[in-house]
Amino acid sequence: MTHARQHHIQVVAHRGASEAAPEHTLAAYRRAIEDGADALECDVRLTADGHLVCVHDRRVNRTSNGRGAVSALELADLAALDFGYARTRAFWRGRDEEPDWEVRPEDPEETSVLTLERLLELVADAGRRVELAIETKHPTRWAGQVEERLMALLKRFGLDAPASAEESPVRVMSFSARSLHRVRAASPTLPTVYLMQFVSPRLRDGRLPTGVRIAGPSIRIVRNHPGYVQRLKRAGHEVHVWTVNEPKDVDLCAELGVDAIITDRPDAVLRRLGR
Ligand code: G3P
Ligand code: CA
Repeated sequence: MTHARQHHIQVVAHRGASEAAPEHTLAAYRRAIEDGADALECDVRLTADGHLVCVHDRRVNRTSNGRGAVSALELADLAALDFGYARTRAFWRGRDEEPDWEVRPEDPEETSVLTLERLLELVADAGRRVELAIETKHPTRWAGQVEERLMALLKRFGLDAPASAEESPVRVMSFSARSLHRVRAASPTLPTVYLMQFVSPRLRDGRLPTGVRIAGPSIRIVRNHPGYVQRLKRAGHEVHVWTVNEPKDVDLCAELGVDAIITDRPDAVLRRLGR
């Protein structure tokens, strides 16, 4: 059954089409664009030599054949690793089954470490509008450097100072209100998303940290407190929900009128929404 939509819900590929291909790889993002995703989500971290790379965990152990913290490795170290290998290793070592990626590229670039710069190039060459939701990871450790590098990179692509938040193809997300504050101080029109794993008492009435436009609650919050979505909407905020992979959760989000669904399965969610 597909859900009759009242309004357009943006479908955002979480770490790329990360169920079909290894997360945060070119292969995963290419697949998401092919699948028709409206936007791509990525996590960014700083390497030891100051490059922004798309890696979720503090360490590379889960998602590559290497070891160590991203912050302790240089880009050249990361470039020597295979980010398409790890799920094979972690999930399938000692088992009979085959790895389950639908996308298994031959070209090593497709599964090597992805810089944010390369992802911005991919989006620029997509041939259609594809938005980017960039999440700053562990921004407190770097005392503003993540945001500084991010703004400098966005500037190079002409994306740092949109005419208005509504028109911006890029938004910055974080669990850290401080990180979002830094972004807003650098660019008042760049939209920001406050991610939430739980709703703190001072935000229960639907307010967000000062100046933040978009709320990013987890699907667990939405399931347990559907009225909270209404409060956020009444307070004038967009609501972007993560990580929504189950059909019943897609239906719930559609019923509640959320603005964006962040998912590992953009193809399945688009189908569920009748697109
Ligand atoms: O899109 C928000 C979501 O990605 C936050 O959680 O842990 O997947 O980065 P995480
Ligand atoms: Ca993320």
